[in-house]
Amino acid sequence: MELLNARRSVPSIDLREPGPDAATLERIFTAALRVPDHGGLTPWRIQIIAGAARQRFSAAIAAAYAAEVTPPDEAKAAKLVGGPLRAPLLLVVSSKLRRPHKVPEGEQLLSGGALCQNILLAAQAAGFSGFWYTGWTAYSPGVKRALGIELSEHILGYIALGTAGRVPQERPRPAIADVVSEWRGE
Ligand SMILES: Cc1cc2nc3c(=O)[nH]c(=O)nc-3n(C[C@H](O)[C@H](O)[C@H](O)COP(=O)(O)O)c2cc1C
Repeated sequence: MELLNARRSVPSIDLREPGPDAATLERIFTAALRVPDHGGLTPWRIQIIAGAARQRFSAAIAAAYAAEVTPPDEAKAAKLVGGPLRAPLLLVVSSKLRRPHKVPEGEQLLSGGALCQNILLAAQAAGFSGFWYTGWTAYSPGVKRALGIELSEHILGYIALGTAGRVPQERPRPAIADVVSEWRGE
């Protein structure tokens, strides 16, 4: 409960070296893969973008933005292109949906979302911090193509991982009473 109650996202800009090494990453994945998954479909994939591949991914984002956005917003482009370079390590979690299947697509996507959350929790348990983000690059056909992700699939999240240089101020959470109620069926 202590770990769960201390969970925080640390924005990529505040994630420093070191990132998790290969052995730690394997421990993170081992824990994260214990995810609820209706029908055991494994309807998701994880890609690791590390080291010099971050620059190559950055270049792929620049190319996709130039091809897909006219006129370009230079400030936005610079922010997107800088995204993969901010943290030591980047994960891309995408869907790999089974279609048609009696397990609805929404449930398969939810399993992928749970996987993202598991990765964040496992990373924090291993002493690292992370940030789950999406934005323009998660919806760009050119970016999906560069990653080898089918256009019909979804990028569920980028997860930046590293060591927290700064932990953000606590943010207000919903009051339990505002979101939890008891259904009595009377
Ligand atoms: C699917 C998903 C996509 C998100 N995308 C972004 C994003 O693109 N940019 C961003 O600033 N936060 C994004 N967030 C929110 C952050 O991951 C984070 O939850 C938020 O900053 C609050 O911090 P906390 O997790 O410590 O409460 C996203 C969250 C989810 C679940």
